[in-house]
Amino acid sequence: MGLTVVCRMLKQSLAIYQYLFYKKFKFCCITSEWMLRGSGSFFVKLQGLLTMTQKNTNLSVDIGGIKLKNPVMTASGTFGYASEFEHLLDLNRLGAFVVKGLSLEPSKGSCPNVKSGGIAFGGYPETAAEVVRAVRKRSTRPMMVKLSPNVTDITEIARSVEAEGADSISLINTITGMAIDVETRRPKLANITGGLSGPAIKPVALRMVWQVAQVVKVPVIGIGGIMTAKDALEFLIAGAAAVQIGTANFINPHTAIDIIDGIEAFMVERDISDIADIIGTLNVSPR
Ligand SMILES: Cc1cc2nc3c(=O)[nH]c(=O)nc-3n(C[C@H](O)[C@H](O)[C@H](O)COP(=O)(O)O)c2cc1C
Repeated sequence: MGLTVVCRMLKQSLAIYQYLFYKKFKFCCITSEWMLRGSGSFFVKLQGLLTMTQKNTNLSVDIGGIKLKNPVMTASGTFGYASEFEHLLDLNRLGAFVVKGLSLEPSKGSCPNVKSGGIAFGGYPETAAEVVRAVRKRSTRPMMVKLSPNVTDITEIARSVEAEGADSISLINTITGMAIDVETRRPKLANITGGLSGPAIKPVALRMVWQVAQVVKVPVIGIGGIMTAKDALEFLIAGAAAVQIGTANFINPHTAIDIIDGIEAFMVERDISDIADIIGTLNVSPR
């Protein structure tokens, strides 16, 4: 029996216990946010919990030949090789984790703070295509190609890597930024410039994911400033088939799992049984 099932059974037992206790004594001994909000909210939550246990909510997605049980992964470079996080969370709950590895921008953008020394392959459609072509020739395995946002037209790069055989496209990597110490007038970063990540980049990431999702057929994976389930849902609605969590892992290593639970709760509360009914559903018709 999986841990998820056990957790759900525990949640269900707890909810039933609280319900019976409430019925008998008209108050609750377990202080929780939803109990404090009163009985109305209590029954709604109880119903939600029970529904969640009864309904088969489908969070699974197919990312260019890789089937994931849910659309939430951790992002490259922010989660080590996952084993470092093993004692902090149940890795089996994750849709997937991405280890530090190949990127179209190996020296400049992949790791935000490493000194630039080579060509930024991801900056131009031709060079990006060249790299993907070379990898495709040598491997038939599913290839997820990550894009740098430090380009003029992200859709051009996305189209070119798709044409060369990328099975899925993830974006965005960090945005190049800098900071200056006004007293010393020296750059604050040893490399002068560095990669900006986290909530500040979310609007840019969301815009790029939305643009790319409209021009490619392969699945798009949204990355950039995702801290909560609501952030993740924004990316899914914009067209991402899955999301990756980066900087948030440094603040709370449990974020990815909280996001999975949050997406599921969102679906249950709105009676959405399949994640496919969320992905790419942005309504842009005039208000
Ligand atoms: C410390 C750090 C190291 C990173 N290393 C890599 C890396 O090796 N390869 C890569 O593709 N992206 C790397 N990234 C970029 C992240 O995977 C992610 O694309 C980016 O941080 C935006 O997501 P976030 O705002 O959720 O952090 C790194 C990011 C950070 C903050």
